[in-house]
Amino acid sequence: MKVLSSSLVLLILAIDNSIAKDAAKELVSKHGQLSVKGTNLVDENGDVFQLKGMSLYWSIWQPQYWNQESVDGILKYCHSNVVRAPMGVGYSNGYLADKEEQMKLVETVVEAAIKDDMYVIVDWHEENADSHEEEAVDFFDKISKKYGKYPNILYETFNEPTNQSWSDTIKPYHEKVIKAIRANDPDNIIICGSGQWSQKVDEPADDVIKGTNIMYTLHFYAGTTTQWLRDRAQDAIDKGLPIFITEYGTFNVTEDLDKQVVYPEESQLWWDWLDENQLSYTNWAICDVKGAGSAILPDTPADKVCQEDYLTESGRLVVAQNEK
Ligand SMILES: *[C@@H]1O[C@H](CO)[C@@H](O)[C@H](O)[C@H]1NC(C)=O
Ligand SMILES: *[C@@H]1O[C@H](CO)[C@@H](O)[C@H](O)[C@H]1NC(C)=O
Repeated sequence: MKVLSSSLVLLILAIDNSIAKDAAKELVSKHGQLSVKGTNLVDENGDVFQLKGMSLYWSIWQPQYWNQESVDGILKYCHSNVVRAPMGVGYSNGYLADKEEQMKLVETVVEAAIKDDMYVIVDWHEENADSHEEEAVDFFDKISKKYGKYPNILYETFNEPTNQSWSDTIKPYHEKVIKAIRANDPDNIIICGSGQWSQKVDEPADDVIKGTNIMYTLHFYAGTTTQWLRDRAQDAIDKGLPIFITEYGTFNVTEDLDKQVVYPEESQLWWDWLDENQLSYTNWAICDVKGAGSAILPDTPADKVCQEDYLTESGRLVVAQNEK
């Protein structure tokens, strides 16, 4: 009797899974080479396709999750088809100070994602990339030379510009990095940040970068940036801008860490809008630091990442969304 009922439960679960649009089942071997068609990301068959997953945290502060075990968990338990690798550039141990160590972390995550049949975003994570243009060009040249042949990889050239001018500074920077990538990799997706921490998508909408398979970063935090940012992004989409959310949080990012809470209703408004527009998104972040945005509990070991007992309130909501 016991055996019978548990196999019945398994059967029901199996049926339920087969109708769910679980990102963990929509992987590279099924969807292949990505490209941009109009404002949409599409797969190798030209069908509109969504990437849903997790961003790791700064490589310089949480390298304990920049490994195969953690990527395995992000696929299997966080129901993701994409993982983002935000490589710290500045600070005393960032890429500019220790190229070898940072490159090693990025390559570890890229290779883990390839092994797991996942997509992976390589992110140049800083606010002043235009002051380190030569290093950025060199970094993306190396990465695209090594991994450009894999359909798994996406490039994010400049995480969050702040008050730089789009047309005079940010756009010319992206163009130089894109040229270096395209010399090695003619077709994988390149995602470009805009001003005000990648909230000013109105600016590229009025002055786009020429080229193929280029998308534009939008970042939001549900407790900070609300309907006004959805309106701005919708206008940009209506003008033809392809948008990719490489970073979003369920909390208020400007709140003190010990006061932060999760905003489930505001998060749901964002998720509904993202899904209506079939946009792709990665959650900030796989980390166990203080603050409501950490997806995993303090001291979570890498081989337990995303397992149910180790998820925070935010982590649980995000995983449920990835699994939808
Ligand atoms: C951006 O802000 C920084 C610091 O507030 C300031 O030093 C810089 O001049 C500003 N740059 C532009 C292009 O406005
Ligand atoms: C987010 O937190 C900041 C700092 O406490 C506060 O000023 C702001 O009003 C909050 N935003 C929202 C939308 O509640």
